Amino acid sequence: MPKATPAKSPPIPPAWRSDLDRILIPQTEIAKRVEQLGLEIRRDFAGRDTVVVAILNGTVMFLADLIRHLDFPLKLDFVGVSSYGTGTTPGEALLTKHASADIRGRDVLVVDDILDTGKTLDRVSLQLRQFRPRRLRTCVLLDKKARRQIKIKADYTGFQIPNEFVVGYGLDFAERYRNLPFIAVLKPEIFLAADPARPPVRQAKAS
Ligand code: PRP
Repeated sequence: MPKATPAKSPPIPPAWRSDLDRILIPQTEIAKRVEQLGLEIRRDFAGRDTVVVAILNGTVMFLADLIRHLDFPLKLDFVGVSSYGTGTTPGEALLTKHASADIRGRDVLVVDDILDTGKTLDRVSLQLRQFRPRRLRTCVLLDKKARRQIKIKADYTGFQIPNEFVVGYGLDFAERYRNLPFIAVLKPEIFLAADPARPPVRQAKAS
């Protein structure tokens, strides 16, 4: 699995230079890897009665690109997760929107943008398993292993990334940066300005 460590970072577009430290995964690398993941998933899922369940909101760009590579009939569904935590304190993952598709006896692919502490993917997988899918597989674009608190591994992973706060390609900080077409490292001063006492955690919603 590729590690997101480009030898030379591409230049940051001028509008983002004050906020971003560097581009970690360029758009072209993301596109190549998403296509490969699509091929792997096609090989494993084609011909099955499949439901893709995406975890809102950060997964939108990854999901949109990934499912274009899945050339077999499938149903698409979404779950919402938020944290009990407040401010920048991490909390337990709480489902705010449940899947509505009938997944009993079907093949389920859960898609998320990043596997961080593992709480979100673990919570969603547990909840979906209650409905007895034939099998459940998980797919994440990014894996930040250093922060894992729960023993969980995705079945399909795009990139291993270092323990830095990344934004772009759907991932946000305080709801910003989701529209960047690449994955970038946010400058520490941006999140320290929001809360100097703590670095951000993924599920913190700065208000
Ligand atoms: C992020 C991300 C994952 C989750 C991973 O979501 O999209 O779902 O955190 O973190 P974990 O492994 O520590 O549980 P976030 O709560 O930031 O919401 P968002 O997708 O709406 O940005």
